[in-house]
Amino acid sequence: MPEFHCRPLRSSDFDRVLWLERDLFGSGAWTYGMLADELAALGRWYIVATVDEPGTIGPDPVVGYAGLWFDGDDAQIMTIGVAKDYQRCGVGRLLLEALIAHARKLKAQAVLLEVRIDNEPALAMYRRSGFEVLAVRKRYYQPEDKDAYTMRLDLRAGSRTASEDGDAATDDGDAA
Ligand SMILES: CC(C)(COP(=O)(O)OP(=O)(O)OC[C@H]1O[C@@H](n2cnc3c(N)ncnc32)[C@H](O)[C@@H]1OP(=O)(O)O)[C@@H](O)C(=O)NCCC(=O)NCCS
Repeated sequence: MPEFHCRPLRSSDFDRVLWLERDLFGSGAWTYGMLADELAALGRWYIVATVDEPGTIGPDPVVGYAGLWFDGDDAQIMTIGVAKDYQRCGVGRLLLEALIAHARKLKAQAVLLEVRIDNEPALAMYRRSGFEVLAVRKRYYQPEDKDAYTMRLDLRAGSRTASEDGDAATDDGDAA
């Protein structure tokens, strides 16, 4: 099994991240302008996951990406995606736990997110990391016209996930 690491997202990662966006989210994918605006916005922290052995499956070492927005109270997960060839290898969990660890460092009270109600892999991943469903947002995803669950991880309780105690590793540089 190859090893994966997190580092801040750089502008040189844009093409790869946008390619992954289109491959993973189709018509709902962010455009170049949306990604650039997002990275330039206040309170954002974006990271990528890289693989130690690029070329084994695909040529690019960037195999996943994720981002967080901290508004001074809560942290919101803005996106998370893993290249199809590298899914079910722990990359999503690595990225998610890095975001949660960063939110804790910022002293966020909670981590919030939206997820399509039929996105079983993502729902399982979030539940596994301690997120709970708060509510349903009707027709949140357009143009697919799909409902979303709002999920929340309470950070005030002081509980740490198993991964945070062990393998979540990212440096603390600025995103982008
Ligand atoms: C959701 C996503 C990021 C998960 O990434 P991943 O690298 O495959 O996830 P991991 O290998 O780290 O798995 C973490 C946990 O998620 C759950 N999980 C992941 N994929 C799953 C699947 N296909 N079926 C069931 N559970 C799954 C499991 O609980 C898993 O833990 P386990 O392997 O110990 O059982 C990935 O499927 C993805 O990029 N999907 C498309 C984009 C997307 O939907 N993003 C989320 C938007 S809200």
